[in-house]
Amino acid sequence: MAESSPETVFDVIGEDGLTRLVRGFYEHVPGDEILGPMYPPSDLAAAERRLREFLIYRFGGPDRYIVERGPPRLRVRHAPFVIHQAARDRWFQLMNASLDSAGFAPEIVAALRAFFAETATFLINSDG
Ligand code: HEM
Repeated sequence: MAESSPETVFDVIGEDGLTRLVRGFYEHVPGDEILGPMYPPSDLAAAERRLREFLIYRFGGPDRYIVERGPPRLRVRHAPFVIHQAARDRWFQLMNASLDSAGFAPEIVAALRAFFAETATFLINSDG
């Protein structure tokens, strides 16, 4: 093969890295005054798994998320939740804190951070 495909985030940090990242995020969800009430307390482990599998798929790993959940359609899936600017900012803040403590290389942090910032803004669905 003349060219190799570019390395993906998944190639570098693997399932282990994305698992740690999502774990670090969810650790702070239940106690958060904005996000805590939005997530199902009895099903938090399953919610954590959905985000983890989505990111594994999205950043170049196995596509189990698609097999299990179908097309991501994130705007539709977030429609049941009121996502205003403050909720968006808090989500991003918790994810950023987890990114900061994950120990990834700077270019990996930058790629993930840009994706999270953009996607979180895209999911705002309320002025309130
Ligand atoms: C903007 C602030 C956000 C809020 C308040 C929010 C809130 C939620 C809530 C309450 C759920 C339901 C938990 C569950 O049972 O799965 C959920 C699911 C999910 N969220 Fe978010 N979210 C936000 C941003 C994001 C972002 C930026 C991403 C992607 C990077 C994302 C990806 C997902 C995924 C993949 C699911 C599971 C969808 C499914 O398969 O059902 N969310 N979110």
